[in-house]
Amino acid sequence: MVHEGFILSIESSCDDTGAAVLKDGKILANRVANQMVHSKFGGVVPELASRAHQKNIVPVVDLALKEAGITAQDLSAIVYTQGPGLMGSLLVGASFAKSMAMSLGIPSLGVNHMKGHILSHFAKRVGDEAVVPEFPFVSLIVSGGHTMLVLVNGYSEMKVIGRTLDDAAGEAFDKSAKMLGLPYPGGPLVDAHAQKGESIYVFNKPRVSGLDMSFSGLKTSILNFLKKEVERNPEFMTEEVDNICASVQSTIIEILIDKTKDAVTSCRVNDIGLAGGVAANSGLRKAFLTLAEEMGVKAHIPPFEYCTDNAAMIGTAGYFALKEGVTSNLATVANANLSFQE
Ligand code: KG4
Ligand code: ZN
Repeated sequence: MVHEGFILSIESSCDDTGAAVLKDGKILANRVANQMVHSKFGGVVPELASRAHQKNIVPVVDLALKEAGITAQDLSAIVYTQGPGLMGSLLVGASFAKSMAMSLGIPSLGVNHMKGHILSHFAKRVGDEAVVPEFPFVSLIVSGGHTMLVLVNGYSEMKVIGRTLDDAAGEAFDKSAKMLGLPYPGGPLVDAHAQKGESIYVFNKPRVSGLDMSFSGLKTSILNFLKKEVERNPEFMTEEVDNICASVQSTIIEILIDKTKDAVTSCRVNDIGLAGGVAANSGLRKAFLTLAEEMGVKAHIPPFEYCTDNAAMIGTAGYFALKEGVTSNLATVANANLSFQE
């Protein structure tokens, strides 16, 4: 059975090149090369991302294999992010993984990036006894590219029950930061300023029915607010950056938490999970834990290295898929818009 033994996993959906090695489903190595080239452009530049993946992929895979103490010949399968993501970025990882698997005569498997985020709770090193969510659980995935609520009934049984209709939550953080003149990615900086400020400004919250969400109106509301205040006081943004960040952050968090609460009520689950890069946000973590306490459910947040884009979560999702007998072959291609059902 191919899920036993050593699996190499590769993640290259956006701007991080990741490689991990798992043995019998447990992580031995989890390496990532971040791409700094994008910060001066205020966002990820797809062409630069794919070039950087090409440069990084061999050294990152090499490092992961070395850290795991194995060579390529020891591998029994290679899994990779098939999509969704940036096409040029996905192609580098997918082509590399399939070619390497073919040259070694072992199977390769394409994994859905979002399923990787959802299963990041199960990414574990040997000896890591941290409690994992029990099925069914509601998963809130918040990153720079995605924001969704998913009902997770099993390792391969998942249903998207809510999603953003426009911007992702991370994008809302980053765009707000940009308006305040903070560098990309601004999410962590908004978080840092927010911790020194108070949420005293009120921004419009969207009214979206069901479990779907929207963040683009918030962006406009912030922009109009800043324009008006700066006209009155040109130093407003500098003087008030902490309070503005605290207000922006608490509005984004309220939107996310309100919808998660509704999801827990309608799905009647006992466990909730938070993952994706925005799960690093101190206010969101606190609000998520408070929500769980209020609702009498168990909250799960993976360690940060498994929250941001990483290959360990792709390896973990691949491991469970291989265990369930899922296979793919050389005809499986990278898909920028890979849907949840594929
Ligand atoms: O999952 P991730 O690493 O990459 C994507 O798949 O997008 O998420 C990156 C996103 C960025 O938008 C970044 O600003 C945001 O996560 N982020 C944060 C924090 N740390 C990262 N947003 C708010 N507060 C943070 N502490
Ligand atoms: Zn991601």
